[in-house]
Amino acid sequence: MCGIIGYTGPLDGKKILLEGLSGLEYRGYDSAGIALCTIDSGIEVFKKVGKVSNLRDYCNQHTAAVSHCGIGHTRWATHGGVTDENAHPHRAGRVTLIHNGIIENYHQLTERYHLEEELVSQTDSEVAARVLDRLYQGDPLAALGELSGMLEGSYGFCVMFDDQPGNIYAMRSVSPLVAACTRSGSLVASDLTALIPYTREYFVVPEGKIVKLTPYKVNIYSLDENFSKYTPEMMSVNWNMDAAMKNGYPHFMLKEIHEQPEAMKNTILPRINKGLPDFSDDGIPDDLFADCSQIHVIACGTAMHTGMVAQAIMEPVLRIPVTVTIASEFRYQDPLVDDKTLVIVISQSGETIDTLAALRLAQEYGARTLSIVNVKGSTIARESDYVLYTHAGPEIAVASTKAYSVQLAALYMIACRMAYIRGKYSREEAVRFLTDLLDAVPAMETMLTQADFIKGIVTHIIQSPDAFFIGRGLDYAFSLEGALKLKEISYIHAEAYAAGELKHGTIALISEKVPVIATATQQHVFSKTISNIREVKARGAYVILLAKEGSIIDSSLADVIIRIPDLDDRFTVFPIAVALQLIAYYASIGKNLDVDQPRNLAKSVTVE
Ligand code: G6P
Repeated sequence: MCGIIGYTGPLDGKKILLEGLSGLEYRGYDSAGIALCTIDSGIEVFKKVGKVSNLRDYCNQHTAAVSHCGIGHTRWATHGGVTDENAHPHRAGRVTLIHNGIIENYHQLTERYHLEEELVSQTDSEVAARVLDRLYQGDPLAALGELSGMLEGSYGFCVMFDDQPGNIYAMRSVSPLVAACTRSGSLVASDLTALIPYTREYFVVPEGKIVKLTPYKVNIYSLDENFSKYTPEMMSVNWNMDAAMKNGYPHFMLKEIHEQPEAMKNTILPRINKGLPDFSDDGIPDDLFADCSQIHVIACGTAMHTGMVAQAIMEPVLRIPVTVTIASEFRYQDPLVDDKTLVIVISQSGETIDTLAALRLAQEYGARTLSIVNVKGSTIARESDYVLYTHAGPEIAVASTKAYSVQLAALYMIACRMAYIRGKYSREEAVRFLTDLLDAVPAMETMLTQADFIKGIVTHIIQSPDAFFIGRGLDYAFSLEGALKLKEISYIHAEAYAAGELKHGTIALISEKVPVIATATQQHVFSKTISNIREVKARGAYVILLAKEGSIIDSSLADVIIRIPDLDDRFTVFPIAVALQLIAYYASIGKNLDVDQPRNLAKSVTVE
């Protein structure tokens, strides 16, 4: 969380930092700040509570001088409230610093360096800045190297020293940082979106190194005795700035919902060989799938919900245990994982700290690990044994949409390949499965054409403080994601329940007009789900039912029916995801909320 950027070069630094921060704002938006280095005034800090637009207005009123070097930060508060003092950058003596992460031993450092009286904020980051100032004797590499040896926790830092005008230093542990030397100057940022306007070539800042940016050069130093130079592995981005713009849509979320069919094709089509899923170009060997005796799926948030669907798809076919665990729980367990376990780690960003820690733990237990990741070169992608990249392009809206669909597409392809390799599917069955998956793409397009209809039905939902999502089997797994989407961007309390479980407590909350969004697409439990819907209807619920085209529904059962294209039961998740995303989107719009940047959330969760 928190977005950071540093720039030094020939262009207008203030403009570059503010534009970069706008692109990074989805990482956190409690406050924003920049520090500019100018010839006349040295380093000046401008910071404000609220969004980058606030900071921009403030800067326009208070800065006139031109600067060609500076650092910027957009904050998701962890230590200390949302105040101007706690906003970054932090000044301490000759040091100006921005930070993404958590310094866990900040309290000990405060005591050790007797900083209590000096601190002007409540942040762990200011402690790091003040310790660095104490250590600084004119040699930035020595001071940063010493600091890195003292810190516990996670950090991505960008630092300017008063007596090093035009230079920026950066280093990281766990928290992400990428950097590039371009014709327009040198840049470092927590995310590629800030670099893309200037370059397609970049490198991931290696942990345990220090990066020095000067206007036309970027050097990397190892933390050995001589600070020897290090050559990073260069990477290139395969999407352009258009992909990170709204392109005429009012919100990123709506754009990303509409991008799903294309993203699905980009993820699936390059991996089809003779009608079967084929991961040889990803370097994933078949023995990974053939030899395992169980599967653990580990992820957070929306990505975890894709695991719930995968479990319901995989277990009945593969006949081996498939366990789905929330990463923040898994990492503190003593999990039943061994060298015969395939651990599938799912993460859009590839940086979620709990998912990364869970991956590392699984590796310690000897498991073979496969990650499904959207961001190329991210930490989870680099550290897992194998990676299957989804090709969704950048996802900017905090509420995940297209990442969900492509993660599912990747999991369905894995399920199909595994079933084929393990003799559970004949070639014909595997080809049929993949054809059905591809049929889900036009079904999503059809669902998108119902956007206006869905927009018209949310009125009832937004009048209620609560909403319930129910379904059985796979329909329950989809409901979990529907409830998460609604609550995170409309602030309506939304819960998903296995429809048969309602009567064990939750049905007490169903009263007149409470919205119940019921999904009934699974034939083998269809009549059971319908009975559960009748139970809530009998108690006055306002029922919105998602059902397949052609399934026969009594008109008294639901207030509204959203018809889903008639796919094989296993694939209805794809159009249903679109429908549930649109419900959440229009509910948020209907309540006049900030769809792309809901309160208290951040896109990339790089703190525990
Ligand atoms: C945050 C985001 C969610 C996302 C989750 C996991 O909570 O707001 O949209 O599903 O993190 O993120 P990851 O990048 O690991 O998929």
